[in-house]
Amino acid sequence: MVKFEASHHPLISYRPIRTSDLDVLEKIHGDLFPIRYETEFFQNVVNGRDIISWGAVDRNRPDGQTDELVGFLTARIVMARDSEIVDLLRYDPSKSDQTLVYILTLGVVESYRNFGIASSLIREVIQYAANFSTCRAVYLHVISYNNPAIHLYKKMSFQCVRRLHAFYYINGQHYDSYLFIYYVNGGRSPCSPLEVLALLISSAKSGLKLAASRLWKDENRKFSKLQKCKESSSDLLPTMQNMRIHDGSGGGGGGGGCQFV
Ligand SMILES: CC(C)(COP(=O)(O)OP(=O)(O)OC[C@H]1O[C@@H](n2cnc3c(N)ncnc32)[C@H](O)[C@@H]1OP(=O)(O)O)[C@@H](O)C(=O)NCCC(=O)NCCS
Repeated sequence: MVKFEASHHPLISYRPIRTSDLDVLEKIHGDLFPIRYETEFFQNVVNGRDIISWGAVDRNRPDGQTDELVGFLTARIVMARDSEIVDLLRYDPSKSDQTLVYILTLGVVESYRNFGIASSLIREVIQYAANFSTCRAVYLHVISYNNPAIHLYKKMSFQCVRRLHAFYYINGQHYDSYLFIYYVNGGRSPCSPLEVLALLISSAKSGLKLAASRLWKDENRKFSKLQKCKESSSDLLPTMQNMRIHDGSGGGGGGGGCQFV
């Protein structure tokens, strides 16, 4: 691990990953992830075979290794129609060329964490995806206990849309994963079930408001109808509260804000 003097100020720059990064890339993956990757994966990354990648290096590194990777992001372009998130997209079957960017791996060596390197790498991939006119979203899986990564994706405005039971199998144990999505180029699903529910509730609320204002105007039947209106309104309130509780504090480990579709 790289060790710093307190006075060291990293000067991070970003560049594509290349063949000379092979050994370091493989070593960092080995150090950071509980999953082992095939040699072929690293070969594909450094040769840009079906994989796009960004690397971070410290141009001000005290040990002189100013071109050695300290962070990386690897991703693959997949066809939207073949993906597991096709139901979450505003997918147009007449445009079969729609694509997605799937983040395969993202990591920063320990001594370079919390400098914003991963955030910058994510911004790079989002910008790449947004500039790619057929692309509809960037998405990824994260193991359910990885709080720093979950915090990071939420901070970067990814939406947590699913919890996948026993998605990972590591050292004889199953772990759930969260599926995070960042929509680009209008790729967002028009309405998730939660949004439909929110829409229904807000329509019901505005309907009630309208009815109430009409009732107030109606001098003759004011009293009896207002009473009815109050009853329906209070019937709706618990539903609203339940929805907020589910949305904000539910999610069994994923933290607040997760939407489970
Ligand atoms: C996740 C990881 C890539 C983040 O890299 P990084 O360069 O430190 O990320 P950034 O500096 O851009 O942002 C880190 C954010 O996480 C927060 N964070 C750090 N440790 C945290 C923790 N234990 N719990 C919650 N949040 C945490 C930081 O405070 C910071 O958020 P802030 O900007 O709101 O303060 C890095 O921790 C890592 O490589 N982990 C091991 C590999 C991994 O888990 N990869 C992701 C697989 S899906």
